[in-house]
Amino acid sequence: MGNYQLAQRMRNDKYSVEKLAVNVTQLFLNADMPQLNTTLERFGGEYNARLMVLDKYGKVQVDSYGKAEGQRLNIKEVSDIINAGEASSYGAYSVNPINNKDNYINICTANLVNNQGLQGIVLFTSSLEDVISNLNKLQASILKFFWISALVSMIFALFFSSIITRPISTLTHGIEKMGKGDFSVRVAERGSKEIKNLSATFNIMSEKLENLESSRNQFISNASHELKTPLATMKILLESIIYQDDMDPEIAKEFLNDINKEIDRLNFVVKDLLTLVSLDNKAINLDRSKFSFGKLVQSICKKMALLSEQKNQNLIVDIDDECEMYADSSKLQQVVYNLVDNAVKYTGENGTINVNLRKTGRIAVLSVKDNGTGIPQEDLKNIFDRFYRVDKARSRESGGTGLGLSIVYQMIMLHGGKIYVNSEANKGTEFVVELPLAAK
Ligand SMILES: Nc1ncnc2c1ncn2[C@@H]1O[C@H](COP(=O)(O)OP(=O)(O)O)[C@@H](O)[C@H]1O
Ligand SMILES: [Mg+2]
Repeated sequence: MGNYQLAQRMRNDKYSVEKLAVNVTQLFLNADMPQLNTTLERFGGEYNARLMVLDKYGKVQVDSYGKAEGQRLNIKEVSDIINAGEASSYGAYSVNPINNKDNYINICTANLVNNQGLQGIVLFTSSLEDVISNLNKLQASILKFFWISALVSMIFALFFSSIITRPISTLTHGIEKMGKGDFSVRVAERGSKEIKNLSATFNIMSEKLENLESSRNQFISNASHELKTPLATMKILLESIIYQDDMDPEIAKEFLNDINKEIDRLNFVVKDLLTLVSLDNKAINLDRSKFSFGKLVQSICKKMALLSEQKNQNLIVDIDDECEMYADSSKLQQVVYNLVDNAVKYTGENGTINVNLRKTGRIAVLSVKDNGTGIPQEDLKNIFDRFYRVDKARSRESGGTGLGLSIVYQMIMLHGGKIYVNSEANKGTEFVVELPLAAK
């Protein structure tokens, strides 16, 4: 830009000095000094320049500033014309630093000739400050533009880092914490759409793990308690027999019978626990085969009839459809057994139990309904939890482990089915199971 502006200035100056040369040649040749002086002063004012006319030896004849007459100017632009025979010459210089600031000037010369050759020289000097200050202004605005764009890029970079990098590092931090076993971590769902989704998924995962962890702890504590109770009872009974020398053999026998019952209980609990653990194993394969679900329900109800007859209950079985099924029959046997067993267990003398099986579309719908004790509203949401029993003492007495319904639930889920419960305290309960006839 600077070069361009200087070149432009040089062209203008050359044009001016040549125009001047044409104007003053005759005056100079005629040695009309007063007129020459006037002309130089007029042009000097017009161009805002210092003008001189030199003779052919380089000696100043007229100076528009009226200062240098008689001096010999030993500068390149003059000698270019005198010695090298140029028609004109140009130079730009930094001179006389004033106030520590460089002063830039240009010097431009043109020859004055007649038919005998070089007679004199016109010299034109003016300040280049206007060009320089224009360039400085330009430089300042370029610099300003640079700083503004640097600032804008910085703001953009910060903005992008806040929506990309920061959420990722928060997430990494969360994952590290979780890796150390802290499942309570949740991260802020911020940033771009993908990272927001990732954070939300992470939060869901950590919540699930937290729930899993707490239900596992609950399970272990429940299981230990469930195993400890019969052991404590057995210890008391055994110690009575051991330390009471004069114990009535009848009572001792009774105690031994009780101990035997507690052992049975322990067996039930351990068996149910093992079933549950095996169901927890996600890689579990259902042992599917074709069978009639109707026949299966029928045969279980037949076995349960003995028990319900003891309580003088009315067990009504209604099979609408055979419901040919491709499923794991031994698992479904446990499902039906647990539901009917509960109905008989939690229904009093002379109660009625309805077992109904029908087919809707590709689904077998089994309903087990009783008019027994019912389940209070507040307990309904928990009855599928492991070891959950509404009335602990009563369930224990009847040999329940509190694991039956959670086993039922797991087995139905494995088959891709559903289970619902409707119940009202002191009125009765209905469990409805929906099972797909074929594997999906
Ligand atoms: N048909 C029912 N009528 C009333 N309460 C029931 C019935 N079925 C289940 N329950 C309640 O749900 C609890 C959990 O059932 P379950 O898991 O089979 O354990 P349990 O070993 O006690 O039978 C039972 O203790 C009982 O309180
Ligand atoms: Mg049960």
